[in-house]
Amino acid sequence: MSEAPERNLALDIVRITEAGALASARWLGRGDKNAGDNAAVEAMRVSFSTLNIKGRIIIGEGEKDKAPMLHNGEGVGGGEGPELDVAVDPVEGTNLLAYGRPNAISVVGVAPKGSMFNPGPSFYMQKLVVGHEAKDVIDLDAPTKVNLANVAKALGKSVQDLVVFMLDKPRHERLIEEVRAAGARIQLQTDGDVIGALMAVDARSEVDIMMGTGGTPEGVLAACAIKGMGGQILGRLNPQSYVEKEAINDAGIDAREVLTVNDMIRSDDAFFAATGISGGDFLHGVKYSSKYAVTHSLVLRCKTGTLRYLESYHNMDRLSKISAIRY
Ligand code: FBP
Repeated sequence: MSEAPERNLALDIVRITEAGALASARWLGRGDKNAGDNAAVEAMRVSFSTLNIKGRIIIGEGEKDKAPMLHNGEGVGGGEGPELDVAVDPVEGTNLLAYGRPNAISVVGVAPKGSMFNPGPSFYMQKLVVGHEAKDVIDLDAPTKVNLANVAKALGKSVQDLVVFMLDKPRHERLIEEVRAAGARIQLQTDGDVIGALMAVDARSEVDIMMGTGGTPEGVLAACAIKGMGGQILGRLNPQSYVEKEAINDAGIDAREVLTVNDMIRSDDAFFAATGISGGDFLHGVKYSSKYAVTHSLVLRCKTGTLRYLESYHNMDRLSKISAIRY
């Protein structure tokens, strides 16, 4: 593993997610998920090039849906500075953006070269995410009701008080029944389990736990944030097709292994940033006015655990004079 970066990159990488959000939010509700994604990719690519890092994309979201992407293996950054693994999701929740639903965000995670779990050909992962108070009581193989009882106890609540975040997918039919039978409440969202994970670890949110199967790249991205916030993610690859299963086998990856946050991000010197695109309670969306565009972001430095919520005012006239990107 190369030497850890000395610099605090938190405020550098948040400029990248701000750029992604500013460019893609123009596509809110316009029904074209590729256009929104494309706009974010372009803006983020330019923004990365201004950064003094030697980055390599380990996770470039988009492959699954053949969407435009910052490609896996692509070098990013100015070419000087720390060598980094980079995970990027220009628009996490492309459908949320295209159909004008809350919680689409732009996300970047970075960690020293060689320290980020590479999903390879894996698309789907079973996940269980909690904040720091419940980080030692969850077990991916325990029955749902046992996990819920243990999390409730760790949080000093009853199971009826809990809110479980889950993606609203047919594959979760049984899990939804199990959570209901246990008596917990459920927040079902069509997309966006990175924000679901963020809400599960952030004590300000009403969500206590995230359960279910979502994207593997999204799991690793969320792990960057969970590492900084002191929670836990347990994940196990959960292929949803024969082709995916075979590809994982061929790549020599053990799909039975339970990965923890420290397996997904094997260094404390990691950083995470997310900026709201379409809005929502957790991160507000981009607001444009005649002069300014306003963004809301969160940014984390894992080593120190410093979490910053940023409200930024972008002067569009001035930006458009110095930037190749038209916001
Ligand atoms: P996109 O940004 O690629 O549209 O991903 C949205 C998302 O909901 C993720 O948050 C989640 O991890 C994944 O898709 C689940 O995949 P699927 O919709 O195929 O079940």
